[in-house]
Amino acid sequence: KQDDDQLIIDAGQKQFGATTCSSCGMIYSADNPEDNFQHTQFHQRFLDSIKFVGWKKERVVAEFWDGKILLVLPDDPKYAIKKAEDVRCVADSELGFQQVTLSRAAQAKTYLFINTERMVVGCLVAEHIRQAYRVLEQPDQHKDMTKDDFMERHRAWCCSTVLEKALCGISRIWVFSQARRQGIATRMLDTVRSTFIYGSHLTKNEMAFSDPTPDGKLFATKYCNT
Ligand code: ACO
Ligand code: ZN
Repeated sequence: KQDDDQLIIDAGQKQFGATTCSSCGMIYSADNPEDNFQHTQFHQRFLDSIKFVGWKKERVVAEFWDGKILLVLPDDPKYAIKKAEDVRCVADSELGFQQVTLSRAAQAKTYLFINTERMVVGCLVAEHIRQAYRVLEQPDQHKDMTKDDFMERHRAWCCSTVLEKALCGISRIWVFSQARRQGIATRMLDTVRSTFIYGSHLTKNEMAFSDPTPDGKLFATKYCNT
């Protein structure tokens, strides 16, 4: 009987000891060897995916003191396509997207933000579209909802029923967790606006975000209103 009680207590402590890695985002129990092993593997794969060794031909579309933005197009060399895909997979797994193939991969343009430590810390996938539902700003009155509830309502809320003209659809935007709130997403979007259609500058209204996450919506609302 005493053994049973002991078991329950141990299980509880394991739950309690769950940690989230601030780099790769994996939730694991640091005092469980199997979990630790899984994390080490996942962490390494994550770092490999965002590592940038430099390419023979790089399409640099913007340069900053803390990094640069490269554009990868569908007909680019294999090494560039592979890196864009690897980073997109990292982003997708964080966004909880199951699907690995893009709806219109052949036309997608991928923007990668490379920092001075040679890591891909930002990824944005843009596609040509003709129309989109406008994202509406809504007050968040449900502070005590579960995450699922929140997502559910959020998605139901966020779009008007009126189709509006748009030219560029942002199907993914992701910034490495440790590089957020440094204007990387803002700079990637500004760069998309000036380079997406050759010779023209898109307005914020001509951009549309597909199915934004809570983070994505907070960012998009801020971006579109400034
Ligand atoms: N909470 C509140 N406000 C925010 C947030 C947030 N999490 N993120 C951005 N903002 C607002 C802020 O006002 C910010 O300005 P400030 O830092 O001066 O206050 C402004 O937006 C600009 O933010 P950036 O620094 O340019 O954005 P960042 O580089 O941090 O990237 C992003 C934002 C892409 C949403 C990032 O948090 C991320 O990758 N999140 C996880 C993945 C995700 O949810 N992506 C969006 C999916 S939706 C889609 O792909 C269509
Ligand atoms: Zn990790």
